[in-house]
Amino acid sequence: MHSISDYQENFLNYLESQKISREPKSLYEPIHYILSLGGKRIRPILTLLTAEIFDTNYKEALPAALAVEVFHNFSLVHDDIMDDAPLRRGKETVHEKWNLNTGILSGDAMLILAYQYFEKYEPKIFQSLAKLFSKTALEVCEGQQWDVDFENRDDVTISEYLKMIEYKTAVLVAAAMKMGAIIAETNEENCNAIYDFGLNLGIAFQLQDDYLDAFGNPETFGKQVGGDIIENKKTYLYLKALEFSTKENAEQLMNLFSIQPSDNTEKINSIKEIFNETGASEATQVAIKEYTLKAFETLDKMKIDEDKKAILRIFGENLMSRKV
Ligand code: IPE
Ligand code: IPE
Ligand code: MG
Ligand code: MG
Ligand code: MG
Repeated sequence: MHSISDYQENFLNYLESQKISREPKSLYEPIHYILSLGGKRIRPILTLLTAEIFDTNYKEALPAALAVEVFHNFSLVHDDIMDDAPLRRGKETVHEKWNLNTGILSGDAMLILAYQYFEKYEPKIFQSLAKLFSKTALEVCEGQQWDVDFENRDDVTISEYLKMIEYKTAVLVAAAMKMGAIIAETNEENCNAIYDFGLNLGIAFQLQDDYLDAFGNPETFGKQVGGDIIENKKTYLYLKALEFSTKENAEQLMNLFSIQPSDNTEKINSIKEIFNETGASEATQVAIKEYTLKAFETLDKMKIDEDKKAILRIFGENLMSRKV
């Protein structure tokens, strides 16, 4: 086993060794731009780490790790269009720096590029990876559509919200891990257990993403703080605030979530205050912990060495305390 920073470094070297810049520049430059902007690289690290957990050299998992990261970045380019987001990783989003059409087509090309990396595997592994990837990618689209549909609904339930984040975010974290397990050719029980671990970790991850979207530090967060509030996203914070509010306060919150002022500062501040006062912020923190612990329970049942479980637990704990 290697350290997390080793996996990250080796992944970045592999990414840099790929010649993604070709002609036409206007198609490939935005792809190079978004992939070079950094990011935490959580999903590819998990793919490499999982391959080694099941006793296979991480190098064998590099193409799949890259496929997952390229897909993730594709989803961000299109997500930023859908969310009208100006900032990504502290820099202009692709559609802001270039334009909408560039964001659409460069994103499409990234989705195809992601598939191409699976061609590096022999037919049996290729088939398993491609099958999992197609299922996952379609679920991400379904989750993204729910996310957008919910903006205009005022009757979203917590269970609908949880399904939505499972699809838009958690399935990719789960699949990233399962790919490592598939490449290691471990048994189905292990593949499913690690998928389950990733799924719960991914749910905690998106809950934390929602929390940071409202309460992150604008200096370091890298995205527009309050972006979800501006877009009237039905996040866990919002749904819990409604649940914990008096009838009168709930009406005020719903009203705030129906207006689109030209200056959003006041709207954002009022809503954050409501999130804090109702206990919604605290409830979100509790839920993040619960889903992380649920992921750890899956580990308890797995037949892998204790030191490997410890690496995964530390990884999960670090995700919980992240600030970006
Ligand atoms: C952002 O993902 C989108 C979500 C699913 C929450 P990350 O927080 O992993 O983004 P980067 O890749 O580190 O920038
Ligand atoms: C994004 O959810 C999920 C996907 C990109 C599929 P968000 O819209 O919350 O992600 P951020 O906050 O923009 O990174
Ligand atoms: Mg977004
Ligand atoms: Mg979004
Ligand atoms: Mg977000």
